[in-house]
Amino acid sequence: MSAWCNQIYCEDALTGLVRIPDASIDLILTDPPYGLGKDYGNDSDKQDSAAYLRWMEQWIDAALPKLKPNGSLYIYLTWRYSPEIFVMLKQRMIMLNEIIWDRRVPSMGGSTRSYTSVHDTIGFFAMRKDYYFDLNAIRIPYDAETKKARSRSIFVGAKWLELGYNPKDVWSVSRLHREHPERADHPTQKPLEIVERMVKASCPVDGVVLDLFMGSGTTAVGAQRCGRQFVGFELNPDYCEIIAKRLAAPENQLTEQNNLPTEPVREKLTNIIKQKKGRKSKHVPEEIQLHSEDDVASDSVQQALIF
Ligand SMILES: C[S@@+](CC[C@H](N)C(=O)[O-])C[C@H]1O[C@@H](n2cnc3c(N)ncnc32)[C@H](O)[C@@H]1O
Repeated sequence: MSAWCNQIYCEDALTGLVRIPDASIDLILTDPPYGLGKDYGNDSDKQDSAAYLRWMEQWIDAALPKLKPNGSLYIYLTWRYSPEIFVMLKQRMIMLNEIIWDRRVPSMGGSTRSYTSVHDTIGFFAMRKDYYFDLNAIRIPYDAETKKARSRSIFVGAKWLELGYNPKDVWSVSRLHREHPERADHPTQKPLEIVERMVKASCPVDGVVLDLFMGSGTTAVGAQRCGRQFVGFELNPDYCEIIAKRLAAPENQLTEQNNLPTEPVREKLTNIIKQKKGRKSKHVPEEIQLHSEDDVASDSVQQALIF
């Protein structure tokens, strides 16, 4: 393993990036300062708008060469600067999604002269069309009610109901309340649930995830829990200590449980292929359409998933 793998460097990301060889990173998953004046114990979020956008462009240009050719990038932004930053990234990469993270903010108070903002904007980009993406690792199980609702004859015996559905681009996941067990002492800590979905979908097992702005270390913790490697930077030494503690905590180690979805889904798919081989159908429901490069012989799988 390379010396820079599974390390958090307590230093400026722009300085530290030289440690990482070009084309060595599977996934950049990063959450930079938003240009909103947040207090991270440093001045990193206190630049004026022009300086902020120049700085964003500078680190983007330094970071992208670190990606493997089939690598991808997720970036957390807010509506304030996402238009400018999406344009910057679209000039360099293929834009795949704008994901809306609905933070499930309760309906109390809020803006009085405009609409209360309750979401983060996450950009998903790739270097080229054959980017790594493992849909089966992130399918969402159908609940019992939905399964029951799909009782029309076309769905009877449909094994795809067991596989789960493809995640959509609106992710409704509660922000971390003060009492939340995951909560660390960082003002903009992100939930592991979101990070782990990105890691499982967009970084192969044992691949490397880079976060230039680690904060409380959620990207590193999510990567470790899912059996991926990580590397990253954080300016604030207090946050670096929090990251070290989180990485050492028993609940943040790799377990079979954390990585469950991939293998059982693969197994089920293989069984379905075996069972359905030879049967023909005119229609494959959208829910089971397989879009991943990584999906083994996706055409034959679709042929096999027939009802
Ligand atoms: C939005 S927060 C990241 C929060 C993180 N995703 C989490 O879940 O805890 C951005 C972090 O970037 C750090 N930061 C700002 N400028 C930096 C730089 N040039 N190099 C490294 N870290 C930096 C800040 O100190 C802050 O903790």
